[in-house]
Amino acid sequence: MGVTAAVADVSFEVNEGEIFVVMGLSGSGKSTLIRMLNGLLEPTAGSIEIDGVDITAIGGKDLRRLRQEKVSMVFQHFALFPHRTVLENAAYGLEVRNVPKQERLTKAKEFLAYVGLDGWEDRYPDQLSGGMQQRVGIARALAAETDILLMDEAFSALDPLIRREMQDLLLELQGELGKTIVFITHDLNEAMRLGDRVAMLRNGRVMQIGTAEEILTDPANDYVAQFVADVDRTRILTARSVMDKPISVVDANGGPRAAVRVMREQQTSFAFVVSRDRRLVGVVFAEPAAKAVREGHNTLDGIIEDGLQPVDPDTAVADLFTLCAESPLPVPVTDRTDKLLGVIPRVTLLAALGNLNGNGHTGEAAPASAATAHTEVTADA
Ligand SMILES: Nc1ncnc2c1ncn2[C@@H]1O[C@H](COP(=O)(O)OP(=O)(O)O)[C@@H](O)[C@H]1O
Ligand SMILES: [Mg+2]
Repeated sequence: MGVTAAVADVSFEVNEGEIFVVMGLSGSGKSTLIRMLNGLLEPTAGSIEIDGVDITAIGGKDLRRLRQEKVSMVFQHFALFPHRTVLENAAYGLEVRNVPKQERLTKAKEFLAYVGLDGWEDRYPDQLSGGMQQRVGIARALAAETDILLMDEAFSALDPLIRREMQDLLLELQGELGKTIVFITHDLNEAMRLGDRVAMLRNGRVMQIGTAEEILTDPANDYVAQFVADVDRTRILTARSVMDKPISVVDANGGPRAAVRVMREQQTSFAFVVSRDRRLVGVVFAEPAAKAVREGHNTLDGIIEDGLQPVDPDTAVADLFTLCAESPLPVPVTDRTDKLLGVIPRVTLLAALGNLNGNGHTGEAAPASAATAHTEVTADA
């Protein structure tokens, strides 16, 4: 009676090794949700499974142990002990697990160095800046060596520049450690920057779950569309999402005759040259190719030009402008093994830009007004 659920009908799976962002305005139920994931709050209905174990079905000692072994938290306000050194703080997660002192201090020191706090072990939290304190918070979570990290607005208290630095740090260490991270934020740009997938929460309900690109290019409803209207898409969309299929492509082992034919068919004056396993070798141009045909050459020897500047598929569109503007050829997109994945002609980039803001969704109230406060919480997974 008169009870409003803080979280209702929320259902999602977090994949191993991904950063899953839960994004929503203040009061949308994010902290309630993360407390349920951590077993601190029991949902009135539904289940929460970690590695196949329903944590709502176990209690007491078992739940505590599972939490200690599988889950670490990083908090918005760092939650460091003021009278403990940085090293002791970082070792805390291991202390509660009764790891022997020497071992936990060694481990803590290792992870402090990992987050860039080498040499700060004997200081106290109040001698550190906010960003550094949160590095301690992260080192503490990492030192516990759990597979799962829960981060509740972990960077929200930091200044924008430091915040960006911490996002970079998180992405960097995630690249190396491959944790499973649930990251909570009310900041859309942060969500889009960090999340492999993002769940958009509103009034305790999920509006959409998807990659940043999916949410930007195909918002599930007007609320989401309005919400993402002001996002700088050029920072979110990547080379992969705007590239075209490479069509003017020739085999490095083919001859100039084949190259000329491809260029004529595609009506281009160049063709990218790839090896049999589709690695990008270079580019040939129409005139030298035609000349090679006239002179009776059977190979592309001597007319393949290198010096292309391929980009990684994850390059932000914003970082493609200069390259595309300066390059007379479409910019090739290659993977780690140099395989040609696609090309970005200047016109494609411009067309993509034209579409960036025209997703057609309008109407409905702007999400600026935060959810109304509820007096009681019924958590409903
Ligand atoms: N202990 C509590 N008692 C009563 N209401 C609460 C309590 N905790 C949270 N709420 C309410 O539940 C809703 C969701 O809160 P919360 O999960 O903290 O949101 P968020 O973390 O997204 O800001 C809010 O409307 C909030 O006012
Ligand atoms: Mg919160």
